[in-house]
Amino acid sequence: MQKTDVLVLGAGIAGLTTAIKLAKARPDLKITVLTKTNENESNTAWAQAGVAAAWDKKHDSYKKHVEDTLDAGDGLCVEKIVEIVVHEGPERVQEIINWGARFDKKETTDQYDLGREGGHSENRILHYKDITGWEIQRTLLEELGRYPNIEFQEHYFAIDLLTQHHMGYTIIRVTPGIECYGAYVLDKRTGTIETFLAKITVLATGGTGQVYKNTTNPAIATGDGIAMAYRAKGRVENMEFVQFHPTSLYNPAGENPSFLISEAVRGFGAILRTRQGEEFMHKYDPRGSLAPRDIVARAIDREIKQRGEDCMYLDCTHLDKEGFIAHFPNIYKKCLSIGIDPMKDFIPVTPACHYMCGGVRTDEMGRSSIDRLYAAGECTCTGLHGANRLASNSLLEGLVFAHRIVEDIIPRIDQFQIQTNIPDWDARGTTDPDEMVLITQGIKELKETMSYYVGIVRSNVRLKRANDRLYLQYKEIEALYNTTTISPQLCELRNLITIAYLIVRSASMRMESRGLHYTTDYPEKKGYVDLSIL
Ligand code: SIN
Repeated sequence: MQKTDVLVLGAGIAGLTTAIKLAKARPDLKITVLTKTNENESNTAWAQAGVAAAWDKKHDSYKKHVEDTLDAGDGLCVEKIVEIVVHEGPERVQEIINWGARFDKKETTDQYDLGREGGHSENRILHYKDITGWEIQRTLLEELGRYPNIEFQEHYFAIDLLTQHHMGYTIIRVTPGIECYGAYVLDKRTGTIETFLAKITVLATGGTGQVYKNTTNPAIATGDGIAMAYRAKGRVENMEFVQFHPTSLYNPAGENPSFLISEAVRGFGAILRTRQGEEFMHKYDPRGSLAPRDIVARAIDREIKQRGEDCMYLDCTHLDKEGFIAHFPNIYKKCLSIGIDPMKDFIPVTPACHYMCGGVRTDEMGRSSIDRLYAAGECTCTGLHGANRLASNSLLEGLVFAHRIVEDIIPRIDQFQIQTNIPDWDARGTTDPDEMVLITQGIKELKETMSYYVGIVRSNVRLKRANDRLYLQYKEIEALYNTTTISPQLCELRNLITIAYLIVRSASMRMESRGLHYTTDYPEKKGYVDLSIL
């Protein structure tokens, strides 16, 4: 049993920033950060383009950034949250700059070289080449190292959140006063399950991309936090809004994760074309290749299906070579490594699952519906993204909510005691699995189901079919979970099935097309539909 004041699950931008700020504000508190792999692996570290912020006060404004966010969100953003994130964002970005984060500047000036992405009416993306996430992760880890009251533990995989349920009480989704006391955590190196007790727990577990076959998310993105919060009877919302990035590198070898060709490349002037070189995006939107992501991803999907092709193409051949290489050295290198010279050849691209806009519902201070449980980053549904996230708003959201969570925790943490009335994990009755293939094949099956039936274009028939398949898989995996020794793969599959179920269920209930959710049965947008019942 381990005791800590604040338990932070996840080590991307939201988790690390929360830990740093807490440690700084309260050196007397013990803060424990757990990550299921190592310190360098998080969704944050994979972000290419950058952080959106209304930085350039001459051309840009908070108002424009708010409007772009609301426009992308297609009627489902919570306006107050958008205002908060946009207004507080630049100050939060300045903080990480003060901690050492580097963002590219225009040559010979002290001005930031602000990039552009789809749906943004101005250049407002702070970036570090095409590896902004890596730079932020590096900065945060360095800053984290300055605080002796932070304990950072790698290879610890949280399995379930502890609530009154673990003390023998019956809890249902509408039970009032559910509290979180920490988590059961699998030490991946020893295979033992430890009880981590905390006054406050913060979920910062990132995304869910691995629920699809083709995703830009790293292997860790298995929706663990959302699944745990859902099992603990927390409120989860907007799960139908899965963002597909329009341009992942088409790679017939089936690379996982798919390599991202950042939207910033289109911001730099690249144009989407068919194999024959025809520009097609203006058929779909006057903003052409720089229309918001949902529109571009759907257009590419449509062109691919209509033409019976495997991919569409990104044309960079007219762009300045030196500038391109300076901005996108990593993308350039990757393309060359598979025999494509972006300065001479079209880059083959296809949409890939990229971001989950839904998640654990939180309020403006990052509190979830479960008391003593906060959440920040991609695992949340704060209201910022609505039905479709505006590019590069997510790192900003992580920073702003980490700060707000700390502001909220500081004045209230001393009123809580660590709950010691929690039994240790009981592994009696379980045995080692005979065949790992039940799990590995299960993951493949799940990805197939989601990719074929719950992708960019949905329908009632497809959703029903997915639901039937998922129900079978759910029953099989629960039986396995209750009888075999816990492994990370088993837990991840279990979480992915929960995530898939939540996506299908939310998608089935939304009888309209809006933002990222498009269904052929209800192609029109209806009035506001409140689905906050999960
Ligand atoms: C990209 O670089 O295109 C991804 C940026 C984002 O998803 O915000």
